[in-house]
Amino acid sequence: MTTIGIHDIELATTHNVLPLADLAAARGVDPAKFEIGLGQSLMSVPAVDEDPVTMGATAAARLIERTGTEGIRSLLFATESGVDQSKSAGMFIHGLLGLPQAMRVAEIKQACYAGTVALQSALGVIARDPEAKVLVVMSDIAKYELAGSGEPTQGAGAVAMLISADPALVEIEPATGVYSADVDDFWRPNDSTTAVVDGALSLKAYLDALSGSWDDYQANGGHPIGEIDRFLYHQPFTKMARKGHRELAKHTGAELTEDVLEASFEYNRNLGNTYGASIYSGLISLLHHDDDLAGKRVGFYSYGSGSAGEFFTGVVRDDYREHLYREPIQSELAERNVITFDEYVELHENVLPSQADAETPRVTKAPFRFAGIKGGARQYEAN
Ligand code: HMG
Repeated sequence: MTTIGIHDIELATTHNVLPLADLAAARGVDPAKFEIGLGQSLMSVPAVDEDPVTMGATAAARLIERTGTEGIRSLLFATESGVDQSKSAGMFIHGLLGLPQAMRVAEIKQACYAGTVALQSALGVIARDPEAKVLVVMSDIAKYELAGSGEPTQGAGAVAMLISADPALVEIEPATGVYSADVDDFWRPNDSTTAVVDGALSLKAYLDALSGSWDDYQANGGHPIGEIDRFLYHQPFTKMARKGHRELAKHTGAELTEDVLEASFEYNRNLGNTYGASIYSGLISLLHHDDDLAGKRVGFYSYGSGSAGEFFTGVVRDDYREHLYREPIQSELAERNVITFDEYVELHENVLPSQADAETPRVTKAPFRFAGIKGGARQYEAN
């Protein structure tokens, strides 16, 4: 039987970073609240010439450099911080990377859950044609109002994954559990650059969708909890994964230890929320920091406000260690430009009008940049 799953994966983030200790000092909050209470240390902040397209293009370019484009006939871009109401952000990436024209390109949205919809769609494409490969890109900027409750959970990042038959990293198993409920826990109106959130309701909705999707997973041939070795949760902040794990233990009556979560936190605690990319940046972190994953089953809980949950599993390939590339992302994380609180506020408030012509200052050192607006259209270029 053909196995299908994640063949290669890459992560990219922004030029700037803000230490949460500096945010805490400016807001008069005990830094332990962010570091321990939320489990977050740093947050990525985009430069004026970065956005979900530039981050997504960077992650995808790194991946394509290794894999080439042969067999890739679909590019699915998942985001909730889309740059246009009509044109897929994936189409800009298609242009920046010079991808073949014989390709289907589209954008998918359902808050942080969209990346998983893209992944599941890719699995379906390959089930029909095992020779096909799908490039899935998730890229987001998590932005809340200044001084609001969500402020310390902001962040930014992109993940690119190549989905194929006979994958080198993780085989995704067929059983999956899904859950949807119309809830106003978090949303972003069309005319707003910041999300609106009901914090307490968002925590409840996340946990309700977890038990709901777990029950559906069990009803559809899922593995018993004792057969799952590691757990990966959507991580709006890393502490949320602990809350999810405790909820799953309570719901199933199982004893679950939290040490199986740790390796998946290493990148996200230093990126902040990357929305659609978050669970998959957790996956890269797990693969990069846990040496004992060969043949292990990983449980994925993907959540998106509004609200949607999905629980499924993947099995890590025996020789996965030979297919990991830690260098680009670890250097990028370490070399980000540390900004002050005042610079962060200035960047937060600096929103380029969407229709007036403008050029952006050249700041990012990433391979692609947002150059500005011309004739009302967004312009991107290689850096
Ligand atoms: P808050 O009210 O500022 O914080 O908002 P809190 O008072 O609940 O404290 C947070 C934690 O810090 C608590 O721990 C405190 O005890 C602890 P907990 O009880 O939860 O384990 N604490 C301290 N710890 C150590 N030393 C101290 C200290 N003080 C307090 N001195 C909230 C928290 C998460 C609501 C807020 O950050 C928020 O609104 N975030 C945005 C929404 C969010 O991330 N929701 C998560 C679930 S929804 C989701 O994941 C979807 C999402 O990604 C969007 C999408 O799908 O597109 C957001």
